Amino acid sequence: MSLPTASHVRQQFLDFFASKGHHIVPSAPLVVKDDPTLLFINSGMAPFKDYFLGNKPAPFKRIADTQKCLRVSGKHNDLEEVGYDTYHHTMFEMLGNWSFGDYFKKDAIAWAWELLTDVFKIEKDRLYVTYFEGDKGDGLGPDAETQALWRQYTTDDRILPGNKKDNFWEMGDTGPCGPCTEIHVDLRTAEERAQTPGSQLVNADHPQVVEVWNNVFMEFQRLADKSLIKLPAQSVDTGMGFERLMMAVSGVKSNYDTDVFQPLIQFIAKEVGIEYHGTSPATVHDQPVTENERTDIAIRVLADHIRAIAFTIADGQLPSNVKAGYVIRRILRRAVRYAFSSLNQKQPFLYKLVPVLADQMASIFPELKAQQAFVTRVIEEEEIAFLKTLETGLRRLDALEEAARQNGGVIDGATAFELSDTFGFPLDLTALIAREKGLTVDEASFQQALAQQKNRSRNAQETEQSDWVTVAEAEGPNVFVGYDHDEATARLLRYRKIDKKGKTEYQLVLDQTPFYAESGGQIGDTGYLESDVDRLRVLDTKRENDLIIHTVLELPQELTADFRARPDAVRRTLIRNNHTATHLLQAALRRVLGEHVQQKGSLVNDKLLRFDFSHFTKVTDGQLREIEQLVNERIRQQIPLIERRNVPIAEAKTLGAMALFGEKYGEFVRVITFDKDYSVELCGGLHVANTGSIGYFKIVAESAVGAGVRRIEAVTAGTAEAYVDQQLDLLTQVRGALGNPQHLLTSLEKQTEEMGALRKQIEQFAQQSINQQKDQLAGQVKPLNGVNFLAAQVQATSAEGLKTLAFNLRQAVPNLVLVLGAEIDGKPQLAVMLDDELAKAGKLNATALVRELAKEIQGGGGGQPFFATAGGKNLAGLGTAIAKAEGLVIQLLG
Ligand code: ALA
Repeated sequence: MSLPTASHVRQQFLDFFASKGHHIVPSAPLVVKDDPTLLFINSGMAPFKDYFLGNKPAPFKRIADTQKCLRVSGKHNDLEEVGYDTYHHTMFEMLGNWSFGDYFKKDAIAWAWELLTDVFKIEKDRLYVTYFEGDKGDGLGPDAETQALWRQYTTDDRILPGNKKDNFWEMGDTGPCGPCTEIHVDLRTAEERAQTPGSQLVNADHPQVVEVWNNVFMEFQRLADKSLIKLPAQSVDTGMGFERLMMAVSGVKSNYDTDVFQPLIQFIAKEVGIEYHGTSPATVHDQPVTENERTDIAIRVLADHIRAIAFTIADGQLPSNVKAGYVIRRILRRAVRYAFSSLNQKQPFLYKLVPVLADQMASIFPELKAQQAFVTRVIEEEEIAFLKTLETGLRRLDALEEAARQNGGVIDGATAFELSDTFGFPLDLTALIAREKGLTVDEASFQQALAQQKNRSRNAQETEQSDWVTVAEAEGPNVFVGYDHDEATARLLRYRKIDKKGKTEYQLVLDQTPFYAESGGQIGDTGYLESDVDRLRVLDTKRENDLIIHTVLELPQELTADFRARPDAVRRTLIRNNHTATHLLQAALRRVLGEHVQQKGSLVNDKLLRFDFSHFTKVTDGQLREIEQLVNERIRQQIPLIERRNVPIAEAKTLGAMALFGEKYGEFVRVITFDKDYSVELCGGLHVANTGSIGYFKIVAESAVGAGVRRIEAVTAGTAEAYVDQQLDLLTQVRGALGNPQHLLTSLEKQTEEMGALRKQIEQFAQQSINQQKDQLAGQVKPLNGVNFLAAQVQATSAEGLKTLAFNLRQAVPNLVLVLGAEIDGKPQLAVMLDDELAKAGKLNATALVRELAKEIQGGGGGQPFFATAGGKNLAGLGTAIAKAEGLVIQLLG
């Protein structure tokens, strides 16, 4: 039997809801940019959060889509289950249909039932549904309406009450929420089903009785103080796990046996030469017992994790050591670890899966195919780096082995923690290797160390945030008017208080504002809010989803006044220059380096512009010059800005607008053009009216930021001028220091050459001096208790010279005991040299001797039994040290 294809089933879902009047939209990127409560999109509704909260009107009352989601951090985190079981994933697709203040429970339930039973032909008696049983703490009764609606479609034994944990859905600690009804499907055999009714296995972690669809009836908002308030409208938010739906319609027992994962699994199995058996431990919490289970888990981990890794990178998040980047790095390392220890892959492997995945997803998520080479490269470099870390960690473990054995065969928790913290060496890997060495790890003390660190970082970033306090209501709040106005009159709509470790700030939302909120790389505006009684400094402007938030240190005395909102004008002019220059730069990069150049990050402020882009080699000096010239040429051409707002996205694309992967664009976009044949970009930022006002553009640095990503930093206008002046001044100073030669470079080269020749001469002289001293000193050697003894103060310019002299003397004089002292750079230095046989005999030891003598010069040192040196602080003691040597040697030789 051939499996239903993923693209067909996905399309059936979208077509069904299109036929019910839903507008189909593309998936938003996985990485969340302007929401402090979320790193990744963790559910289909997350991109629509503002519509539920009423911060912004929804563009359509009914929407449906398939959304890439990641549940690997925060409130919803499935990471540790992934691979062990057969139905949890890092990245998964959530099919969703939404009503924003339109239909509610009745239609949502009817359509869910129709789609599953009529379109997907899932047998009715395999389906179980749940409803919210109520919660005393939240003051909510049971959702009897939902229960009654379900009675129209199925029997009471299949309609089950559920508690707050399962049947009251919340996006995060705060935000929109509401009671939900889950639909579970029982995929067990008829025999199994006859034995135990499916109703007993709902929400019981059974791999074949799983939740496929959740319909949430959004009516509430959870506030920071944990209380609930009613939302302005009743909405529907649904999420169907696409991979689980695929399992249900394919008649298989695991998500991994569907068309979604099979291409990857078959590829992995073939590449590593290990068959996939489709086994799994009985429960997630069991350890694998058989070898097949162990390798199957690893294969599933790889097939799953590559999706999360590749798509987050394609959506603009590179692996790093902070926040979202760190989460991705950890997922990647988890995958490498399984490949390394269970599938015997000691070389980079994951990156090979990218082309398979890119082809598979090309029609629905084309962003991966479009950046395949880049994503592959980033993953391979990460793997290489982590495999090196693994090796270092392994060596460190080897070195610890002895200590652990003395510690009763236990690697202590602090050490295991250090391995994980510094080397990224996870505990389970340490435990695995320890087991191979017959050792164990003290996991309890590891957990202690981990908890301590968590506490430390929690304390470091403790920020308390109050709920919004409403001052006034307004139609279409929070409008940005800064494209047309440098100042505006505004009213305060709401504020909240932020406590950052004892420092208090307030955040204000206005009805309209000319302040630009940080986004798209452009820094937020600063400035003033002024009324008759207040003058408040705006320290920064940021976005939170679509809210524009102004940060001030105090609340206005008069909250309901009319405020004059005035961003700092000069600063803003500088920012405009740099932002437009960034567009000119990006176009120049694509012309000079090639069309593969994609923006990977940018920063635009009043001082400079920084642009990160995909490119695999260093940009040469010649290319940089060419890029700079191209940009300056466009500046001199005085190209006027063409700004078009509210352009339908399809039209923007026909204009040739450069969209950014990883940006969430609405249906309508703003298009910024400087010469329609040169630079056309989707952009929300501020720009100059005419490129001429940038004046001048100068690149100041080019560097690498990571695998396949280069960075250019540049300055414009007065800053660029100042930079060039500074460089020229420096040149003038250098010229002056060299005596104002006619040809600066020739003169400098000549000087360098001369200096080299002089250095050689000095070395020759030093050698000569050593030879002379050697001959002289050899004549001063005297017999002493059966050895040849010499102690003397000599001339040397370096410790190295003193050493050479000592070795030369030892060669010239047999059976030698030698003590040399010298003043080097104003400090006393001692060297003791012994004939090899004498050193072996053991009565004399150069290290011991030098340490004893060094007391006279207030110093210390060491070395080997036959040669040791010491430096000190007391130059006056050098003579005494040398004089003391003879007596000491006599005493030791006896
Ligand atoms: N937002 C709901 C969920 O993620 C549908 O389960």
